[in-house]
Amino acid sequence: MSKKIGIVTGGGDCPGLNTVIRAVAKSAAKRGWEAIGIYGGYEGLLEPHRIKTLHYKELDGLLFRGGTILGTANRGRFSAKTGHGEGRRLPKDLLADTQHGMEALGLHALVSIGGDGSLSIAQQMHEFGIPVIGVPKTIDNDLEGTLFTFGFDSAVACATDALDRLRTTAESHNRVLVLEVMGRYAGWIALYAGVAGGADVILLPEVPFQYDSICKKIREREDQGKHFTLVIVAEGAREKDTEFVTSAGQEKNREARLGGIGAVVTAEIEKRTGKEVRNCVLGHLQRGGSPTTFDRVLCSMFGAHAVELIASGEFGRMVAFQGASIGSVPISEAVGRLKTVLPDGNLIRTARALGASLGD
Ligand code: F6P
Repeated sequence: MSKKIGIVTGGGDCPGLNTVIRAVAKSAAKRGWEAIGIYGGYEGLLEPHRIKTLHYKELDGLLFRGGTILGTANRGRFSAKTGHGEGRRLPKDLLADTQHGMEALGLHALVSIGGDGSLSIAQQMHEFGIPVIGVPKTIDNDLEGTLFTFGFDSAVACATDALDRLRTTAESHNRVLVLEVMGRYAGWIALYAGVAGGADVILLPEVPFQYDSICKKIREREDQGKHFTLVIVAEGAREKDTEFVTSAGQEKNREARLGGIGAVVTAEIEKRTGKEVRNCVLGHLQRGGSPTTFDRVLCSMFGAHAVELIASGEFGRMVAFQGASIGSVPISEAVGRLKTVLPDGNLIRTARALGASLGD
């Protein structure tokens, strides 16, 4: 039977969204099905519908194009999170309107590409009886149920490149260079890039830090004749017994906007060591641009598998990277609790073994 499937992208954008859209639309076309894109997140499913047909011709170049051609939203009626583990139940009438919207569009299934917030909504839709499949997206790599989310590898590549560049200028000027990267509750980007780029100090949300430890590491390096130091800090990292550093006031139904910890750390290190310290905030550079090779392959596999799940009627599941293969898990197992860095896990032990300080 021919099917019509909708594709929606939600939450913050990241490299690879268009690659998944392409993979879903191509795999659907191969089966003789039709795929349509929903504009502006879930809102596009409601009247007046905002949709885009995804004909073969329109998929040109999507493999490596950053962002999302469908637009995305992380605020408004469909926002599902206000903080870590603080989910929001959507009103029943909004779910009913969504279901009617899908019926009016003649959709047999919805592929929801998103992180914890968007997939929490997808789970509520599934419970309401809407046929939905999830695809795990986020540069933060903090979704349970999958070893990797797409977008993460691209963000790590960007942060590693930044560290490589900062190293040469830090070394030339005998400075401490601090790089602030994203990672609200989970420090995967800082940890992976920190190891890949050889950072001397790696500060994560999962490991509260103390300035004494950071400065001790800098002095040790001075004693060894290394007059520069690279520090990578996740935006959600905190000095022991202090709160997140935020960069804007809290908006209703939204998580606080983080940012600024790099500047705080920079000022304190400068004060304590007397060395010249500079701060660099990577910001949205790590969310833009083309996906890496790894992400392109992951996105292609995720998209193709999402269509297989629709074909076999396995709704309410999220495609997942399980190491040896691409499989799936119930969306409910992936959302509502984040996959954070284990303080005694393999990569942290590797970082310490190679001489990096975690600031603890
Ligand atoms: O969830 C991904 C993420 O990149 C977080 O690491 C970061 O806190 C947030 O998005 C930033 O979102 P926005 O671009 O909406 O400020």
